[in-house]
Amino acid sequence: ILLQSLLFRVYGLHQSSSENILEDSSSFPSDFLFGTASSAYQYEGAFLTDGKSLNNWDVFTHKHPGKILDEGNGDIAVDQYHRFMEDIQLMTFLGVNSYRFSISWARILPRGRFGRINSSGIKYYNILIDALISRGIKPFVTLNHLDYPQVLENRFQSWLSPEMQKEFGYLADICFKHFGDRVKLWTTINEPNQQLILGYLYGIIPPSRCSSPYGNCSHGNSETEPFIAAHNMILAHAAAVSIYRTKYQKKQNGSIGIVVQTSWFEPISDSNADKEAAERAQSFYSNWILDPVIYGKYPKEMVNILGPTIPQFSSNEMKNLKNLRVDFIGINHYTSYFIQDCLISTCNTEHRALKAEGFALKLNKKGNVSIGELTDVDWQHIHPEGLHKMLNYLNDRYPNIPIVITENGFGDLQKPETTVKDLLHDTKRIQYMSGYLEALRAAMRDGANVKGYFVWSLLDNFEWLCGYKLRFGLFHVDLKTLTRTPKQSAYWYKNFIEDHVIRR
Ligand code: NOJ
Repeated sequence: ILLQSLLFRVYGLHQSSSENILEDSSSFPSDFLFGTASSAYQYEGAFLTDGKSLNNWDVFTHKHPGKILDEGNGDIAVDQYHRFMEDIQLMTFLGVNSYRFSISWARILPRGRFGRINSSGIKYYNILIDALISRGIKPFVTLNHLDYPQVLENRFQSWLSPEMQKEFGYLADICFKHFGDRVKLWTTINEPNQQLILGYLYGIIPPSRCSSPYGNCSHGNSETEPFIAAHNMILAHAAAVSIYRTKYQKKQNGSIGIVVQTSWFEPISDSNADKEAAERAQSFYSNWILDPVIYGKYPKEMVNILGPTIPQFSSNEMKNLKNLRVDFIGINHYTSYFIQDCLISTCNTEHRALKAEGFALKLNKKGNVSIGELTDVDWQHIHPEGLHKMLNYLNDRYPNIPIVITENGFGDLQKPETTVKDLLHDTKRIQYMSGYLEALRAAMRDGANVKGYFVWSLLDNFEWLCGYKLRFGLFHVDLKTLTRTPKQSAYWYKNFIEDHVIRR
């Protein structure tokens, strides 16, 4: 850290204080989780090390390097598999009390539930968990963050098959058994909604399934498959929660939730058609997953539009889902959109085809007015008020269920002219985080029961289709040497935590 501070000074930067950004300096309770988030494929590297098998992202990035902005992949990523001790030091520097990471399924179960358990994989996570705990950092574990063993795709098309429910239940059981004595915070699946939309509607991420006019794939059916895969993911989540509740929770005394991607959808006008469209957009996005895992049924807007296309829960499954529920809702939140109705009014025919998204058109701008400050990244518009509204919306729709902001952060797109100094001097990220944290506090004042906030991300890392070009880290990573250097935002977050946590 000393060396990094020095480097930081060499680059001519100043540590920035979070002072004066919030007037009330003691606004978060002592048990509030302040952390950073990561995921296995984006961080670990150690591609086929110690018995890990190929996963879906290994295969996709190797087969189609051209689909990744810089032709990169996660073979080395930021090598957290070998550098986790150094990364824990960075967390200690920040003063965070929790770290969100995910389990690489292919590292634990290289051939799924019919193969052996890879003891080296278990050992790696055991050491990581112990090292975190010994520094007062609570492990917050995601069981599945986009990556799964490729054998599950080859054998039965992964999420399109109910087999995946058993496979995922088995993975969960093993993780609870081996890690649950120390891990008290679990989430099942990260962003099923985003995975379904990108993987099965538009087909741009693995398993690259879609049909025209939704995308350019050689197989798949965008009208039906996103809903079949969703159904299996929801029931796989339920299988894991059920195993936790019946076999482990009493003894281990932890909690379990799910993580969805949320965007705030603001009606573009006051017309009822646009307001209903915004509600439909929520239903076809985060409510798609949250309604079933909390109430045992799909949102009525989905059922109305999709009719028999949407799979049915049996009465037993429905009862089971309602009983299991979740202990908390995890939300990844980055952006907002204006929503214009396309079902009953004026959108062009191309967009009217988007039945699978509820006939709502997402827009960044209303006339000349942007929903929030536009950034280099087309999907990210800075609109903290959207988080405030989103939290109130979730609090109304799912009362009495605590919320954790499992991801929020700002991406810097690295252009040819971008210098390291530009990347370290990340004032936009600070502006973004301070705005969103202020919105979070406003929602908590309104009564939202929020238990934690995790920045995406600790380090610059492999950002899926954008490769290493889109950098979300509080720490810069030099891709040649893998050296980590704090950005201005790292100092800012450290100060923010220091200034805003009530310590008893
Ligand atoms: C959400 C995903 O969970 C994470 O993997 C991704 O890197 C961030 N969004 C930023 O796009």
